[in-house]
Amino acid sequence: MPRSKIAGIGKFIPANRVTNQDLTKYMDTSDEWIQERTGILERHYAHRTEETTTTMGVEAAKIAIERAGITPQDIDFIVFATLSPDYYFPGCGVLLQRAMQMKEVGALDVRNQCSGFLYAISVADQFIRSGMYKNILVVGSEKHSFGLDFSTRGRNISVIFGDGAGAVVLQPTEKENQGILSTHLHSDGASAEILAMYNPGTHANHWGAQNYADFDEAEIGEMFMSHTMIDNAQNFPFMDGQSVFKKAVVKFPEVIMEALQANGYQATDINLLIPHQANLRISQFVQQKLKLRDEQVYNNIQHYGNTTAASVPIALCEAWEKGKVKEGGLVCLAAFGSGFTWASALLKW
Ligand code: UT7
Repeated sequence: MPRSKIAGIGKFIPANRVTNQDLTKYMDTSDEWIQERTGILERHYAHRTEETTTTMGVEAAKIAIERAGITPQDIDFIVFATLSPDYYFPGCGVLLQRAMQMKEVGALDVRNQCSGFLYAISVADQFIRSGMYKNILVVGSEKHSFGLDFSTRGRNISVIFGDGAGAVVLQPTEKENQGILSTHLHSDGASAEILAMYNPGTHANHWGAQNYADFDEAEIGEMFMSHTMIDNAQNFPFMDGQSVFKKAVVKFPEVIMEALQANGYQATDINLLIPHQANLRISQFVQQKLKLRDEQVYNNIQHYGNTTAASVPIALCEAWEKGKVKEGGLVCLAAFGSGFTWASALLKW
């Protein structure tokens, strides 16, 4: 059974750079607070009308496809991970297929937030291993800036997120010592509501989600999207940051060790760990716990913020462009986020 390898990788960062200082124009925050709590110095926001989650994904995909030495017509399956799709439905996968004038190939959207890219490459990896597809495009892209509360009310979330996209092309490899060795996926829905965007949705308050609007039960349409909801800012994400932080620092090391142990490796064997860029303090905690040296961990949240499904491919691409990912190197990708879902992938470059 062939393994899959990353044959090409690309990223797209929108031009509009937004510093912590810029955010103080809209909300009561400070460069000092943001840097100290998150490590973030700046992030980038997509152009309001000319860039979407899909168009950014397309730009990253063009680079990944070119670096793989193929054309968009060679792609035989698309997996697109995002929590900020252009439309509620259909997903971004088909919009990308259309924009890149690809053949009528399958397009699958993955909704696993921060671990979306890891879930997406795990799915793609199975299709390559089974022999079903030969050139799978996997994209992670987010346009958070369109769905954040930029008033002081939303500051605990809005300062963290940024926009951008990353993409890879997976292909089969017959080489003994190359490719994705394993992927490991997990979930625990017990805390689904502590990092979530409830509205618009069909929950009708069934789960007792916080921040829910006081609806007129007679107006069923109102329960999906209402003026009350907008007036009360209930159409924005909600996060209990401290609870997420506490779980993340346990699950990140756990899922990384699971990947290493499944393949007979130890933390000292890792050439590069690319953790999902949620918070620099989380990455530093994981590094400490696994006793990794600085050069074994790649972080770039300082410049892009948390780009959820795009963060791992953006960081992997940047590390590769800087020559930090070498042929034969042991690379570990790991993510944790909303759901909760968490995942890891171990690969030989
Ligand atoms: O990728 C998805 C997964 N997400 C994560 O992994 C996020 C994990 N959590 C975190 O990264 C951190 O919890 C945050 C960065 C979100 C928040 O940091 P924290 O140290 O946990 O702060 P906190 O929420 O406990 O808030 C501390 C104080 C509060 O004020 P009081 O109540 O102590 O007076 C907040 O109101 O900081 C205040 N605060 C802010 N102040 C200035 C919250 N956000 C801001 C802000 N600027 N942007």
